Amino acid sequence: MKAYRAAILRFVTDLEPRHAALYEEDGLLVVGPNAQGRQVVQAVGHYHDLRTRFPDLVVTHWPGRIIAPGFVDLHSHYPQTNVIGSPAEGLLPWLEKYTFPEEMRFSSSSYSTQAVQFFIEELLRQGVTTALTFATSHPVSVQAFFTEAQKHHMRLITGLCLMDRHAPPDVLNQPAAQGRLDATEQSLLDSEALIRQWHGVDRLGYAITPRFAPSCTEAQLRGAGELAAKYPDVWIQSHVAENKAEIAWARALFPASRSYLATYADFGLMRDRAIYAHCIHFDDDDRALMRDTGAAAAVCPTSNLFLGSGFFDYAGADRVGLEYGLASDVGGGTSFSPFHTMLAAYYVGREGQTKPGLSLSPQHVWWQYTAGAAQALGLDGVVGNLQPGCEADFVVLNPQATPLLARKTALASNLDELLFSMIVLGDDRLVERTVISQAI
Ligand code: GUN
Ligand code: ZN
Repeated sequence: MKAYRAAILRFVTDLEPRHAALYEEDGLLVVGPNAQGRQVVQAVGHYHDLRTRFPDLVVTHWPGRIIAPGFVDLHSHYPQTNVIGSPAEGLLPWLEKYTFPEEMRFSSSSYSTQAVQFFIEELLRQGVTTALTFATSHPVSVQAFFTEAQKHHMRLITGLCLMDRHAPPDVLNQPAAQGRLDATEQSLLDSEALIRQWHGVDRLGYAITPRFAPSCTEAQLRGAGELAAKYPDVWIQSHVAENKAEIAWARALFPASRSYLATYADFGLMRDRAIYAHCIHFDDDDRALMRDTGAAAAVCPTSNLFLGSGFFDYAGADRVGLEYGLASDVGGGTSFSPFHTMLAAYYVGREGQTKPGLSLSPQHVWWQYTAGAAQALGLDGVVGNLQPGCEADFVVLNPQATPLLARKTALASNLDELLFSMIVLGDDRLVERTVISQAI
């Protein structure tokens, strides 16, 4: 068992509102192995109350620091680190001009490996301990990812990108070398082999990953849906309703479906553990379809602002009751930092504000990158929080990390003011250390 003394931030997810935070000025976090030997939170609370229950424990004291749940990034593309900050007229030209040429390089195992190593180091520097991320259409890009991820004992989820049409040949799924199977059949066989090899190994997870409906034939979407039914605890990830031109294209390709989103439902790709990035241009029937199927939205505000895609409608989402969490969407997104993304989410909430007051409270914004994102993944009580039983992934924040942070956080007279200061002024300098739960 290990114990840490500092201020502690966590979330009370079993009461309304589910995003209310609990803050202990002088807290104690006690961590120890569960029945499977994985380090989880054994107890958390006020230092003086808890100390008497654990009198023999050696306590690591971090005065002036804040222990908070490790961040959970609901959507990104590990192969797009080099694409960050590439401006284009909109999504489709951005894919053609910058993204597909970079993703082609991931047919190389060594190129993939160095990219994953950088990506994971960057997650850790920024305090992200769980991530759902795209690989490319090349199986070696998935192998490289899981191989490196396993070394770090992190909760990381990825999958082979399914795209069998409408992109340059080198970025599409490839037919079998002997020519017996076409690219579509091979991509589905590869996906299933990767599920069997990696899903549930240590803390790794597999996600069935149709890039978006316009890049997949009907046969590929149907096969992906069959895999989703056969492996119900595997995740699904895709994109939807990000950009007007993309939506028109998807509607033209799948005219029988009620909407772009409904295309995924029609192929069996909407259920619990299905995460759809963007979800901007929805009507209430789409929102209800998300809610009723248990699918969740990955809100990507820096990406949506950078590519000019639009603004996620928080008021609409809350009115209908669909689940959502925040995501970096690197490399359409502009930053690995959860603080940058949380600030952008606040701006986006302002844009769609329907009631007076604050659009999104700082507790609600922080929840979306931690406990809320975990809930969207079906991992509530597992990651994204520091309640007893949660895996012991956490960050140690230093509110004195920069002169301005020190000056501003010292003036905070309540929790919301403190969290706002960090959301607005924070970046990787605020994250003093990132601690990953170990298996003993
Ligand atoms: N839609 C299909 N592919 C992509 C991608 O790589 N990034 C974003 N933002 N949207 C997409
Ligand atoms: Zn994306």
